[in-house]
Amino acid sequence: MTKESRALAGTLLIVLPTVMLGGASLLSLLLTDGSGYMLNPLRQNLWRAGHAHAGVYLVLALVMLRYVDEAELSRGTKRFVRLAAPLAAIFVPAAFFLSLLSPTATRPNGFIYLAYVGAAILAAGVITLGVGLIRTARRSGAA
Ligand code: HEM
Repeated sequence: MTKESRALAGTLLIVLPTVMLGGASLLSLLLTDGSGYMLNPLRQNLWRAGHAHAGVYLVLALVMLRYVDEAELSRGTKRFVRLAAPLAAIFVPAAFFLSLLSPTATRPNGFIYLAYVGAAILAAGVITLGVGLIRTARRSGAA
């Protein structure tokens, strides 16, 4: 693993407990009488999804770091691939949490569009990594 990938993996592992803290906050909202969390199903669904996507995308980011250094891609493209899942782990949860901050909101506000930005970045990142790995496999198969 390159120095860049190792340093980012270390940073992501240090950041991961913030997702756990978010989960603990949701748990206390669920358990606290009068929190109002359960009274707004759309908000609860999106906040649960925000927590879930942050955690799952961070774990995906760690998986991608395992492969990116072997992919036949330029230096700049590898940098983009390394950052794609961490960026999605910021944009998608931000969309879900910030678009329904008010307990009485019945429709998400404009922040919800950040989810599409995060999804587009992640899709581009995983497809690019996949293409880079297939190129490496073809080259080593030909050798
Ligand atoms: C990195 C670690 C974690 C990951 C990857 C993770 C992932 C997830 C996922 C995927 C869901 C959605 C489950 C579903 O809807 O079927 C979820 C929900 C939830 N998680 Fe976590 N979780 C993590 C840590 C924690 C921790 C430490 C706590 C509490 C101490 C926690 C509390 C919750 C709660 C309460 C929900 C449900 C929220 C609701 O229904 O509104 N999570 N988590």
